[in-house]
Amino acid sequence: MIEVDGIDVSYGNIQVLWDLSFHVSEEDRVVSIVGPNGAGKSTLLRVMSGLHPYHAGSVTAWGEDVAEMDPSEVVQRGFVHVSEERNLFGDMTVRENLEMGAYTKRDTLDETLREVFDLFPILEERASQRAGSMSGGQQQMLAIGRGLMARPKILALDEPSEGLAPQITNRVFEKIDEISEEVTVLLVEQHVHKALGLADRAYLLENGEFVAEDTGPALLESDHIKDAYL
Ligand SMILES: Nc1ncnc2c1ncn2[C@@H]1O[C@H](COP(=O)(O)OP(=O)(O)OP(=O)(O)O)[C@@H](O)[C@H]1O
Ligand SMILES: [Mg+2]
Repeated sequence: MIEVDGIDVSYGNIQVLWDLSFHVSEEDRVVSIVGPNGAGKSTLLRVMSGLHPYHAGSVTAWGEDVAEMDPSEVVQRGFVHVSEERNLFGDMTVRENLEMGAYTKRDTLDETLREVFDLFPILEERASQRAGSMSGGQQQMLAIGRGLMARPKILALDEPSEGLAPQITNRVFEKIDEISEEVTVLLVEQHVHKALGLADRAYLLENGEFVAEDTGPALLESDHIKDAYL
């Protein structure tokens, strides 16, 4: 369980998150955060991962203060964040990238690799291919697969459909749905329909504040979303 309680977050002297509270636990299947460019979605994920500081409130991962932890300890405890940039090692093979993802869980590497290959057969077929030579959709699958290699309890995906063709986006969302049967997914998306369709709890973030919270389908039908997106 990750609990965010009343945090303020800034870059230099520009504040971008305001008194934000929110939680995600293993009881959840999919929790989605949607909102326009610059709302602060990625910043929130970075703060939860221990990659960016907050200056009021608290963020705890399974009861412990994230500010006191190294980012790798947050991963070790069960929160894994697949960033917008994907951050693959382009010159390394698909398999090597996956193995890097298991750096906190070496002892279960073979078993997890088997599970990831079962979920994404294309990664097994292309295991020896350079990651940088994979297509955009394949690289996204690889980034998600690498996140799963750390055996997360909660997997955060930052804009997994970004830059992908509609058909590939559909495939990625099918996989996310499948993953959510085993692992809680925290989904940050611009693709509002898909992200809210899957979510049992969803938030609309605007200018660093949550302006609406509901079940995904209810939020999708709300005036907030209609005003912002339709
Ligand atoms: N490294 C940084 N230095 C300074 N300002 C930043 C930095 N990263 C983000 N910001 C600012 O913080 C605010 C929130 O950005 P963030 O990337 O969290 O938004 P987002 O909701 O993820 O947007 P997008 O949908 O475009 O990914 C924006 O105003 C952005 O300009
Ligand atoms: Mg972002």
